[in-house]
Amino acid sequence: MKLNPRINEWAAALPGFSQLHPLQDDDTLQGALRLLYEVRGFLEAISGLDEVSLQPAAGAHGEYTALKVMRAYYVDIGQPNRTIVLAPDNAHGTNPASCTMCGANVVPVKTNDGCTDLDDLARLIKEHGPENILALMITNPNTAGIFDHHIEEIANMVHEAGAQVYLDGANMNAILGVTLPGDFGVDCMHFNTHKTFSTPHGCGGPGAGPIAVRSHLAPYLPVPQIMMADDGSFYLDKDRPKSIGKVRSFIGQFGVLVRCWTYISACGPNGLRNVSEKAVLNANYSAALLCERYEMPYFKPAAKQFCAHEFVTVPKTLLSTGIALVDIAKRMIDFGIHPPTMHWPVHNCLMIEPTETESKKTLDHFASVMLRIADEIEKEPQSMPHAPFESVISRADEVAAARKPQTVHLPDHS
Ligand SMILES: Cc1ncc(COP(=O)(O)O)c(C=O)c1O
Repeated sequence: MKLNPRINEWAAALPGFSQLHPLQDDDTLQGALRLLYEVRGFLEAISGLDEVSLQPAAGAHGEYTALKVMRAYYVDIGQPNRTIVLAPDNAHGTNPASCTMCGANVVPVKTNDGCTDLDDLARLIKEHGPENILALMITNPNTAGIFDHHIEEIANMVHEAGAQVYLDGANMNAILGVTLPGDFGVDCMHFNTHKTFSTPHGCGGPGAGPIAVRSHLAPYLPVPQIMMADDGSFYLDKDRPKSIGKVRSFIGQFGVLVRCWTYISACGPNGLRNVSEKAVLNANYSAALLCERYEMPYFKPAAKQFCAHEFVTVPKTLLSTGIALVDIAKRMIDFGIHPPTMHWPVHNCLMIEPTETESKKTLDHFASVMLRIADEIEKEPQSMPHAPFESVISRADEVAAARKPQTVHLPDHS
């Protein structure tokens, strides 16, 4: 997670935004509607797609909404049999979950070296029948931290089957201003505003997971849509007969979208590109500092295979001493570092996403801590299962903590 700038909070707390009532008449909401209209425009430009809906309340909710939109499109054009969604086997768990909730059948596509296996994709399209494919749901850069350079070829294969290319845009913070999803064949996508534009996290809400679509899918987007009238005023359009309807109360998560507007406006187009360049540089810098002690299956500088904004390490040598992955994560707490995602996208991995907001000093500190932990494991692996050593609570019984929680009274230093 990147650092959320304070200016976002200042903007969201302005009384003109925070004290509005969503049932006020449109003519008393012009500033708020203008802001939403501008967020819509920003995201249309950033995605290279035609129309954005701001309603979904999280990344996962965006996936769900987009699937509903794609399904509605196919039902409308007389192809209701399209119910199969292909998704690479390293897809985020929300991808198959959203498909299942929409009544679609998910078929995993093999990945090779972290990227979609084209032969397997072709085989699956043939096996299931091109006429039954609804979409390919792909994350790019993907969860292995790599930008899949075959994306145009992949998109062509999916389009030849008459299906849609859906981008899980959770990793857009690696490509802002560098490339447009619309240019690499995407028909429909969601944004994770928390990862890309420094807003609070979604996790199913309350966050924001706007979706962007090409024009053929636009009539099916949720209502209401934020529009600008010929006289320059803003209004909510509820008159969209083909719309899938509402997916969130009112017009979505307004406070989160104010933060999104603030971040994008503060950065500007060049600043957004700089965000991605720094996020990618920080990840590659950190990976390069660690790769000799922490094996990285997808980071191969000698073969010119670098990472995008995050990298995955599977520290096999350290784990061969008998310690568990969680021991490394727990020891990090002693140095004030929040443990990263574990065991995903592959078993026994740490997935590290430094983000653009960390300074070189912080990245160097992080690397020195990880190298020190590697030294400790090599010298004294038996002590690791007792980490953290310096926190108020050491190794908690995680099952008991969930099933029989007990609160601890910490000393009052106020
Ligand atoms: C690749 C990917 N897809 C989907 C999601 C789901 O997003 P959310 O937690 O906002 O529902 C995430 C979460 O950050 C993610 O990393």
